[in-house]
Amino acid sequence: MTVPTERLDAFQTALRASFPDVVLSTDVQTLAPYARDESDLGEFPPQLLMLATNTAQVSRALELATELHIPVTPVGARSGKSGGSLPIEGGLALSLEKMNRIVEVNAHDLLMVVQPGVLTAQVDEAAAALGLFYPPDPNSAGYCTMGGNVAENAGGPRALKYGVTRDYVIGLEWVLPTGQVVRVGRRTGKGVAGYDLVALFVGSEGTLGIATEITVKLIPRPRVVKTALIPFRNVSDAARALSSVLTSGLWPRTLELLDEVALKAIAGRGLPVPPEAGAVIIAELDGNHEVGVLSELSMLVDQCASWASLEAVVAQDESQRERLWAVRREVSPALRALTGKKISEDIVVPRSKVPEAIERFKAAGARAGLIVATYGHAGDGNLHSNVLYSTRADWPRVEAVLQEMMAITVELGGTITGEHGIGLAKRRFLPLEQPLALRELQKKLKVSFDPSDCMNPGKIWE
Ligand code: LAC
Ligand code: ZN
Repeated sequence: MTVPTERLDAFQTALRASFPDVVLSTDVQTLAPYARDESDLGEFPPQLLMLATNTAQVSRALELATELHIPVTPVGARSGKSGGSLPIEGGLALSLEKMNRIVEVNAHDLLMVVQPGVLTAQVDEAAAALGLFYPPDPNSAGYCTMGGNVAENAGGPRALKYGVTRDYVIGLEWVLPTGQVVRVGRRTGKGVAGYDLVALFVGSEGTLGIATEITVKLIPRPRVVKTALIPFRNVSDAARALSSVLTSGLWPRTLELLDEVALKAIAGRGLPVPPEAGAVIIAELDGNHEVGVLSELSMLVDQCASWASLEAVVAQDESQRERLWAVRREVSPALRALTGKKISEDIVVPRSKVPEAIERFKAAGARAGLIVATYGHAGDGNLHSNVLYSTRADWPRVEAVLQEMMAITVELGGTITGEHGIGLAKRRFLPLEQPLALRELQKKLKVSFDPSDCMNPGKIWE
Protein backbone atom coordinates (compact mmCIF):
# COMPACT_ATOMS: atom_id res chain seq x y z
CA MET A 1 0.00 0.00 0.00
CA THR A 2 1.48 3.34 -1.02
CA VAL A 3 0.33 6.94 -0.96
CA PRO A 4 -0.51 8.57 -4.33
CA THR A 5 2.23 10.98 -5.44
CA GLU A 6 -0.12 13.98 -5.59
CA ARG A 7 -0.81 13.73 -1.88
CA LEU A 8 2.87 13.49 -1.04
CA ASP A 9 3.55 16.49 -3.31
CA ALA A 10 0.82 18.46 -1.56
CA PHE A 11 2.40 17.52 1.79
CA GLN A 12 5.85 18.68 0.71
CA THR A 13 4.58 21.93 -0.76
CA ALA A 14 2.58 22.81 2.34
CA LEU A 15 5.41 21.87 4.71
CA ARG A 16 7.94 23.90 2.70
CA ALA A 17 5.58 26.89 2.79
CA SER A 18 5.90 26.88 6.59
CA PHE A 19 9.54 25.73 6.75
CA PRO A 20 11.52 26.57 3.59
CA ASP A 21 14.63 24.82 5.01
CA VAL A 22 12.92 21.59 6.04
CA VAL A 23 14.97 18.53 5.04
CA LEU A 24 12.88 16.20 2.87
CA SER A 25 14.06 13.51 0.50
CA THR A 26 12.54 11.18 -2.07
CA ASP A 27 15.89 9.94 -3.32
CA VAL A 28 15.79 6.14 -3.51
CA GLN A 29 19.37 5.73 -2.21
CA THR A 30 18.71 8.04 0.72
CA LEU A 31 15.46 6.24 1.57
CA ALA A 32 16.93 2.73 1.35
CA PRO A 33 18.35 2.44 4.90
CA TYR A 34 15.03 3.63 6.31
CA ALA A 35 13.41 0.47 4.92
CA ARG A 36 15.14 -1.72 7.50
CA ASP A 37 15.63 -2.18 11.22
CA GLU A 38 17.03 -4.94 13.41
CA SER A 39 13.88 -7.04 13.40
CA ASP A 40 14.79 -9.18 10.37
CA LEU A 41 11.24 -8.64 9.12
CA GLY A 42 12.14 -7.45 5.63
CA GLU A 43 12.41 -4.18 3.71
CA PHE A 44 9.68 -1.53 3.64
CA PRO A 45 10.95 1.68 2.07
CA PRO A 46 9.20 4.94 2.88
CA GLN A 47 8.19 7.19 -0.03
CA LEU A 48 9.41 10.32 1.66
CA LEU A 49 11.95 11.00 4.39
CA MET A 50 11.88 13.99 6.70
CA LEU A 51 14.77 14.84 9.02
CA ALA A 52 13.03 17.03 11.59
CA THR A 53 15.07 19.68 13.37
CA ASN A 54 12.49 21.12 15.77
CA THR A 55 9.13 20.52 17.44
CA ALA A 56 7.28 22.98 15.21
CA GLN A 57 8.29 20.98 12.12
CA VAL A 58 7.13 17.72 13.70
CA SER A 59 3.86 19.32 14.70
CA ARG A 60 3.14 20.76 11.26
CA ALA A 61 4.13 17.48 9.57
CA LEU A 62 1.70 15.47 11.69
CA GLU A 63 -1.06 18.03 11.18
CA LEU A 64 -0.59 17.79 7.41
CA ALA A 65 -0.28 14.00 7.44
CA THR A 66 -3.59 13.75 9.30
CA GLU A 67 -5.24 16.12 6.86
CA LEU A 68 -3.85 14.36 3.77
CA HIS A 69 -4.09 10.80 5.14
CA ILE A 70 -0.40 10.06 4.87
CA PRO A 71 0.97 7.27 7.07
CA VAL A 72 3.79 8.46 9.32
CA THR A 73 6.45 6.17 10.77
CA PRO A 74 8.62 7.79 13.45
CA VAL A 75 12.27 6.74 13.17
CA GLY A 76 15.25 6.92 15.50
CA ALA A 77 18.33 4.74 15.10
CA ARG A 78 16.43 1.82 13.52
CA SER A 79 17.84 -0.56 16.10
CA GLY A 80 14.43 -1.84 17.19
CA LYS A 81 13.70 -5.55 17.19
CA SER A 82 9.95 -5.60 16.59
CA GLY A 83 9.68 -3.64 13.36
CA GLY A 84 8.33 -0.50 15.03
CA SER A 85 10.18 1.84 12.67
CA LEU A 86 9.39 -0.01 9.44
CA PRO A 87 7.21 2.10 7.11
CA ILE A 88 5.01 -0.84 6.15
CA GLU A 89 2.50 1.36 4.32
CA GLY A 90 5.10 3.57 2.67
CA GLY A 91 4.33 7.25 3.22
CA LEU A 92 6.51 9.39 5.45
CA ALA A 93 9.45 8.24 7.57
CA LEU A 94 9.81 11.02 10.12
CA SER A 95 13.30 10.81 11.56
CA LEU A 96 14.18 12.49 14.84
CA GLU A 97 17.90 11.75 14.51
CA LYS A 98 18.83 15.42 14.00
CA MET A 99 17.03 16.49 17.17
CA ASN A 100 19.98 15.33 19.24
CA ARG A 101 20.62 18.01 21.83
CA ILE A 102 20.89 17.57 25.58
CA VAL A 103 18.69 20.47 26.67
CA GLU A 104 19.34 20.51 30.42
CA VAL A 105 21.29 18.56 33.01
CA ASN A 106 20.09 19.46 36.46
CA ALA A 107 22.00 17.84 39.32
CA HIS A 108 19.97 19.69 41.99
CA ASP A 109 16.67 18.39 40.73
CA LEU A 110 18.17 15.03 39.66
CA LEU A 111 16.87 15.26 36.12
CA MET A 112 17.90 15.68 32.52
CA VAL A 113 15.95 16.98 29.54
CA VAL A 114 16.94 15.64 26.13
CA GLN A 115 15.75 15.67 22.56
CA PRO A 116 14.72 12.30 21.11
CA GLY A 117 17.79 11.86 18.88
CA VAL A 118 20.22 11.86 21.82
CA LEU A 119 21.94 8.48 22.21
CA THR A 120 21.18 6.59 25.39
CA ALA A 121 24.90 6.38 26.22
CA GLN A 122 25.18 10.18 26.00
CA VAL A 123 22.53 10.54 28.69
CA ASP A 124 24.39 8.26 31.05
CA GLU A 125 27.74 9.91 30.24
CA ALA A 126 26.33 13.37 31.02
CA ALA A 127 24.84 11.98 34.24
CA ALA A 128 28.13 10.27 35.19
CA ALA A 129 30.00 13.57 34.88
CA LEU A 130 27.94 14.74 37.88
CA GLY A 131 28.14 11.51 39.85
CA LEU A 132 24.65 10.55 38.68
CA PHE A 133 23.25 7.55 36.86
CA TYR A 134 20.74 6.87 34.08
CA PRO A 135 20.46 3.06 34.37
CA PRO A 136 18.38 1.86 31.38
CA ASP A 137 20.49 0.45 28.55
CA PRO A 138 18.91 -1.94 26.08
CA ASN A 139 22.39 -3.25 25.34
CA SER A 140 22.78 -0.86 22.45
CA ALA A 141 23.30 2.42 24.35
CA GLY A 142 26.11 3.44 22.00
CA TYR A 143 23.79 3.72 19.00
CA CYS A 144 20.13 3.58 20.08
CA THR A 145 18.27 6.83 20.71
CA MET A 146 16.21 8.05 23.63
CA GLY A 147 13.21 8.59 21.35
CA GLY A 148 13.34 4.93 20.35
CA ASN A 149 13.80 3.87 23.97
CA VAL A 150 10.72 5.89 24.92
CA ALA A 151 8.68 4.52 22.00
CA GLU A 152 9.47 0.92 22.93
CA ASN A 153 9.90 1.32 26.69
CA ALA A 154 13.33 -0.26 26.35
CA GLY A 155 14.70 -2.48 29.11
CA GLY A 156 18.05 -4.25 29.18
CA PRO A 157 20.29 -6.11 31.62
CA ARG A 158 20.18 -3.55 34.44
CA ALA A 159 16.38 -3.55 34.56
CA LEU A 160 16.62 -6.31 37.18
CA LYS A 161 17.57 -3.82 39.89
CA TYR A 162 16.81 -0.48 38.30
CA GLY A 163 13.74 -0.90 36.12
CA VAL A 164 13.07 0.11 32.53
CA THR A 165 12.75 3.35 30.55
CA ARG A 166 9.23 4.02 31.86
CA ASP A 167 10.58 4.05 35.41
CA TYR A 168 12.84 7.02 34.52
CA VAL A 169 10.80 9.15 32.13
CA ILE A 170 8.90 11.69 34.22
CA GLY A 171 7.89 14.22 31.57
CA LEU A 172 7.44 14.54 27.83
CA GLU A 173 6.88 17.19 25.23
CA TRP A 174 4.66 15.18 22.95
CA VAL A 175 3.27 15.87 19.50
CA LEU A 176 -0.12 14.24 19.10
CA PRO A 177 -1.03 12.72 15.73
CA THR A 178 -3.18 15.77 14.98
CA GLY A 179 -0.14 18.04 15.38
CA GLN A 180 -1.14 19.40 18.78
CA VAL A 181 1.83 19.79 21.13
CA VAL A 182 1.27 18.85 24.76
CA ARG A 183 3.51 18.76 27.80
CA VAL A 184 2.75 15.85 30.09
CA GLY A 185 4.28 14.74 33.36
CA ARG A 186 6.41 16.65 35.79
CA ARG A 187 9.85 17.82 36.87
CA THR A 188 9.32 16.88 40.49
CA GLY A 189 10.17 13.78 42.48
CA LYS A 190 6.50 12.90 42.74
CA GLY A 191 3.24 13.95 41.08
CA VAL A 192 -0.14 12.30 40.59
CA ALA A 193 -2.25 14.98 38.91
CA GLY A 194 -4.62 13.55 36.32
CA TYR A 195 -4.10 10.37 34.37
CA ASP A 196 -0.54 9.16 33.90
CA LEU A 197 -0.17 10.01 30.22
CA VAL A 198 3.62 9.71 30.43
CA ALA A 199 3.19 6.05 31.32
CA LEU A 200 0.78 5.63 28.41
CA PHE A 201 3.00 7.35 25.86
CA VAL A 202 6.17 5.53 26.92
CA GLY A 203 5.90 2.21 25.14
CA SER A 204 3.18 3.34 22.72
CA GLU A 205 5.43 2.22 19.83
CA GLY A 206 4.97 5.33 17.72
CA THR A 207 1.19 4.81 17.50
CA LEU A 208 0.05 7.70 19.72
CA GLY A 209 2.43 10.48 18.69
CA ILE A 210 6.05 11.53 18.91
CA ALA A 211 8.27 12.63 21.82
CA THR A 212 10.11 15.84 20.98
CA GLU A 213 11.53 16.40 24.46
CA ILE A 214 12.10 13.81 27.17
CA THR A 215 12.62 14.53 30.87
CA VAL A 216 14.27 11.69 32.75
CA LYS A 217 15.04 11.36 36.41
CA LEU A 218 18.57 10.51 37.46
CA ILE A 219 19.73 8.64 40.54
CA PRO A 220 23.00 8.62 42.51
CA ARG A 221 25.68 6.64 40.70
CA PRO A 222 26.96 3.62 42.59
CA ARG A 223 30.73 3.97 42.98
CA VAL A 224 31.60 0.29 42.86
CA VAL A 225 30.46 -2.29 40.30
CA LYS A 226 31.67 -5.90 40.37
CA THR A 227 30.97 -8.54 37.78
CA ALA A 228 31.31 -12.32 37.82
CA LEU A 229 31.01 -14.90 35.09
CA ILE A 230 29.57 -18.08 36.56
CA PRO A 231 29.60 -21.21 34.38
CA PHE A 232 27.28 -24.19 34.74
CA ARG A 233 27.20 -27.59 33.07
CA ASN A 234 23.75 -26.96 31.67
CA VAL A 235 21.17 -24.25 31.31
CA SER A 236 18.68 -25.87 33.70
CA ASP A 237 21.13 -25.71 36.60
CA ALA A 238 21.90 -22.10 35.73
CA ALA A 239 18.23 -21.16 35.56
CA ARG A 240 17.52 -22.79 38.90
CA ALA A 241 20.48 -21.04 40.49
CA LEU A 242 19.09 -17.69 39.31
CA SER A 243 15.86 -18.06 41.21
CA SER A 244 17.68 -19.07 44.37
CA VAL A 245 19.98 -16.01 44.17
CA LEU A 246 16.98 -13.71 44.21
CA THR A 247 15.52 -15.29 47.33
CA SER A 248 18.85 -15.20 49.15
CA GLY A 249 18.58 -11.52 50.02
CA LEU A 250 20.96 -10.29 47.31
CA TRP A 251 19.89 -7.75 44.74
CA PRO A 252 22.24 -7.92 41.75
CA ARG A 253 21.83 -5.34 39.04
CA THR A 254 22.15 -7.99 36.35
CA LEU A 255 21.65 -11.72 36.14
CA GLU A 256 22.18 -12.52 32.49
CA LEU A 257 22.01 -16.05 31.18
CA LEU A 258 23.64 -17.53 28.08
CA ASP A 259 22.82 -21.07 27.00
CA GLU A 260 25.08 -23.54 25.19
CA VAL A 261 24.15 -22.28 21.71
CA ALA A 262 24.85 -18.68 22.67
CA LEU A 263 28.19 -19.81 24.13
CA LYS A 264 29.02 -21.63 20.91
CA ALA A 265 28.14 -18.52 18.90
CA ILE A 266 30.64 -16.37 20.81
CA ALA A 267 33.33 -19.04 21.22
CA GLY A 268 36.84 -17.67 20.76
CA ARG A 269 35.87 -14.07 21.54
CA GLY A 270 37.53 -13.98 24.93
CA LEU A 271 34.85 -15.10 27.37
CA PRO A 272 36.73 -17.24 29.96
CA VAL A 273 34.44 -20.28 29.91
CA PRO A 274 35.62 -23.84 30.68
CA PRO A 275 34.99 -26.41 27.93
CA GLU A 276 32.50 -28.40 30.03
CA ALA A 277 30.24 -25.34 30.50
CA GLY A 278 26.79 -25.51 28.88
CA ALA A 279 25.60 -22.16 30.22
CA VAL A 280 26.85 -19.09 32.05
CA ILE A 281 25.38 -16.41 34.26
CA ILE A 282 26.81 -12.91 34.17
CA ALA A 283 26.09 -11.47 37.61
CA GLU A 284 26.79 -7.88 38.50
CA LEU A 285 26.42 -6.16 41.85
CA ASP A 286 26.92 -2.53 42.72
CA GLY A 287 27.16 -0.31 45.77
CA ASN A 288 29.47 2.25 47.32
CA HIS A 289 31.90 0.11 49.30
CA GLU A 290 34.34 -2.16 47.53
CA VAL A 291 34.62 -4.68 50.36
CA GLY A 292 30.87 -4.89 50.80
CA VAL A 293 30.16 -5.37 47.11
CA LEU A 294 32.88 -8.01 46.77
CA SER A 295 31.59 -9.89 49.79
CA GLU A 296 28.06 -9.88 48.36
CA LEU A 297 29.44 -11.11 45.05
CA SER A 298 31.12 -13.99 46.80
CA MET A 299 27.83 -14.82 48.57
CA LEU A 300 26.21 -14.89 45.15
CA VAL A 301 28.89 -17.17 43.74
CA ASP A 302 28.48 -19.49 46.77
CA GLN A 303 24.74 -19.56 46.23
CA CYS A 304 25.33 -20.66 42.64
CA ALA A 305 27.79 -23.32 43.85
CA SER A 306 24.92 -25.00 45.66
CA TRP A 307 23.44 -25.48 42.17
CA ALA A 308 26.62 -27.14 40.92
CA SER A 309 28.16 -24.15 39.21
CA LEU A 310 31.68 -24.50 37.83
CA GLU A 311 34.48 -22.17 38.89
CA ALA A 312 33.42 -18.50 38.66
CA VAL A 313 35.64 -15.74 37.28
CA VAL A 314 35.41 -12.26 38.80
CA ALA A 315 36.44 -9.39 36.53
CA GLN A 316 39.55 -7.90 38.11
CA ASP A 317 39.32 -4.44 36.68
CA GLU A 318 37.21 -2.18 34.54
CA SER A 319 38.75 -3.37 31.28
CA GLN A 320 37.97 -7.03 32.09
CA ARG A 321 34.44 -6.02 33.03
CA GLU A 322 34.01 -4.10 29.82
CA ARG A 323 35.33 -7.10 27.86
CA LEU A 324 32.65 -9.35 29.38
CA TRP A 325 29.93 -6.91 28.39
CA ALA A 326 31.41 -6.34 24.95
CA VAL A 327 31.13 -10.08 24.29
CA ARG A 328 27.59 -10.10 25.74
CA ARG A 329 26.63 -7.35 23.30
CA GLU A 330 27.88 -9.53 20.45
CA VAL A 331 25.56 -12.45 21.30
CA SER A 332 22.66 -11.34 19.11
CA PRO A 333 24.65 -10.85 15.85
CA ALA A 334 26.80 -13.91 16.63
CA LEU A 335 23.70 -16.10 16.89
CA ARG A 336 22.45 -14.77 13.56
CA ALA A 337 25.79 -15.65 12.02
CA LEU A 338 25.38 -19.33 13.05
CA THR A 339 22.67 -20.05 10.49
CA GLY A 340 22.19 -16.79 8.61
CA LYS A 341 18.79 -15.74 9.95
CA LYS A 342 16.97 -15.64 13.26
CA ILE A 343 13.90 -14.35 15.01
CA SER A 344 14.71 -12.92 18.41
CA GLU A 345 11.99 -13.20 21.01
CA ASP A 346 11.81 -11.29 24.27
CA ILE A 347 9.15 -13.14 26.20
CA VAL A 348 8.88 -12.95 29.97
CA VAL A 349 7.75 -15.71 32.30
CA PRO A 350 7.40 -15.72 36.07
CA ARG A 351 10.91 -16.34 37.41
CA SER A 352 10.03 -19.77 38.77
CA LYS A 353 9.07 -20.85 35.24
CA VAL A 354 12.37 -19.91 33.55
CA PRO A 355 13.83 -23.47 33.53
CA GLU A 356 10.58 -24.95 32.19
CA ALA A 357 10.24 -22.25 29.52
CA ILE A 358 13.79 -22.76 28.25
CA GLU A 359 13.39 -26.54 28.11
CA ARG A 360 10.03 -26.39 26.35
CA PHE A 361 11.22 -23.83 23.77
CA LYS A 362 14.20 -26.02 22.92
CA ALA A 363 11.95 -29.04 22.58
CA ALA A 364 9.54 -27.12 20.33
CA GLY A 365 12.47 -26.14 18.11
CA ALA A 366 13.83 -29.68 18.02
CA ARG A 367 10.47 -31.09 16.94
CA ALA A 368 10.53 -28.71 13.98
CA GLY A 369 14.19 -29.45 13.22
CA LEU A 370 15.25 -25.94 14.32
CA ILE A 371 17.58 -24.66 17.00
CA VAL A 372 16.17 -22.38 19.68
CA ALA A 373 18.96 -20.54 21.50
CA THR A 374 18.20 -18.69 24.72
CA TYR A 375 20.06 -15.87 26.37
CA GLY A 376 19.08 -12.66 28.08
CA HIS A 377 17.77 -11.10 31.22
CA ALA A 378 16.81 -14.31 32.96
CA GLY A 379 16.89 -12.64 36.37
CA ASP A 380 13.80 -10.77 35.18
CA GLY A 381 12.34 -13.90 33.61
CA ASN A 382 12.93 -12.06 30.32
CA LEU A 383 14.35 -14.49 27.78
CA HIS A 384 15.76 -13.79 24.35
CA SER A 385 14.87 -17.12 22.85
CA ASN A 386 16.03 -17.02 19.25
CA VAL A 387 14.73 -19.31 16.53
CA LEU A 388 17.63 -19.86 14.14
CA TYR A 389 16.99 -20.61 10.48
CA SER A 390 18.60 -20.25 7.08
CA THR A 391 16.20 -19.50 4.26
CA ARG A 392 12.70 -18.21 3.62
CA ALA A 393 11.77 -21.83 2.85
CA ASP A 394 12.21 -22.55 6.58
CA TRP A 395 9.59 -19.97 7.46
CA PRO A 396 6.54 -22.27 7.95
CA ARG A 397 8.55 -24.26 10.51
CA VAL A 398 9.82 -21.06 12.17
CA GLU A 399 6.27 -19.75 12.42
CA ALA A 400 5.06 -23.02 13.95
CA VAL A 401 7.80 -22.84 16.61
CA LEU A 402 7.03 -19.17 17.34
CA GLN A 403 3.33 -19.97 17.74
CA GLU A 404 4.18 -22.73 20.17
CA MET A 405 6.61 -20.55 22.14
CA MET A 406 4.04 -17.79 22.52
CA ALA A 407 1.38 -20.26 23.63
CA ILE A 408 3.76 -21.80 26.19
CA THR A 409 4.65 -18.32 27.48
CA VAL A 410 1.04 -17.38 28.04
CA GLU A 411 0.26 -20.78 29.54
CA LEU A 412 3.09 -20.26 32.06
CA GLY A 413 1.58 -16.93 33.10
CA GLY A 414 4.01 -14.81 31.07
CA THR A 415 3.86 -12.05 28.52
CA ILE A 416 4.87 -12.24 24.85
CA THR A 417 7.10 -9.15 24.96
CA GLY A 418 9.18 -7.80 27.81
CA GLU A 419 11.11 -5.04 26.07
CA HIS A 420 11.09 -5.10 22.26
CA GLY A 421 7.40 -4.30 21.80
CA ILE A 422 4.62 -5.84 19.73
CA GLY A 423 5.30 -3.71 16.62
CA LEU A 424 4.89 -5.70 13.46
CA ALA A 425 6.64 -8.77 14.82
CA LYS A 426 4.04 -9.93 17.30
CA ARG A 427 0.73 -8.33 16.49
CA ARG A 428 -0.66 -11.70 15.34
CA PHE A 429 0.15 -13.16 18.76
CA LEU A 430 -1.39 -10.42 20.92
CA PRO A 431 -4.82 -12.16 21.00
CA LEU A 432 -3.15 -15.11 22.74
CA GLU A 433 -2.37 -12.84 25.68
CA GLN A 434 -5.10 -10.22 25.68
CA PRO A 435 -8.82 -10.91 25.18
CA LEU A 436 -10.86 -9.04 22.59
CA ALA A 437 -12.49 -6.70 25.13
CA LEU A 438 -9.09 -5.50 26.35
CA ARG A 439 -7.79 -5.02 22.82
CA GLU A 440 -10.94 -3.11 21.87
CA LEU A 441 -10.53 -0.84 24.89
CA GLN A 442 -6.97 0.04 23.83
CA LYS A 443 -8.04 0.58 20.22
CA LYS A 444 -10.56 3.15 21.47
CA LEU A 445 -7.67 5.00 23.06
CA LYS A 446 -5.75 4.85 19.78
CA VAL A 447 -8.70 6.27 17.84
CA SER A 448 -9.22 9.10 20.30
CA PHE A 449 -5.58 10.18 19.93
CA ASP A 450 -5.23 9.38 16.23
CA PRO A 451 -8.63 9.64 14.53
CA SER A 452 -7.25 9.29 10.99
CA ASP A 453 -4.97 6.34 11.89
CA CYS A 454 -1.85 8.00 10.45
CA MET A 455 0.56 7.27 13.28
CA ASN A 456 2.55 4.15 12.62
CA PRO A 457 -0.41 2.26 11.15
CA GLY A 458 -0.26 -1.52 11.31
CA LYS A 459 1.85 -1.59 14.47
CA ILE A 460 0.61 -3.33 17.62
CA TRP A 461 -2.85 -3.68 16.01
CA GLU A 462 -3.57 -5.75 12.92
C1 LAC B 1 19.58 -7.73 24.10
C2 LAC B 1 18.58 -7.14 23.19
C3 LAC B 1 18.35 -8.03 22.03
O1 LAC B 1 19.33 -7.80 25.28
O2 LAC B 1 17.38 -6.87 23.85
O3 LAC B 1 20.65 -8.12 23.60
ZN1 ZN C 1 17.37 -7.52 25.86
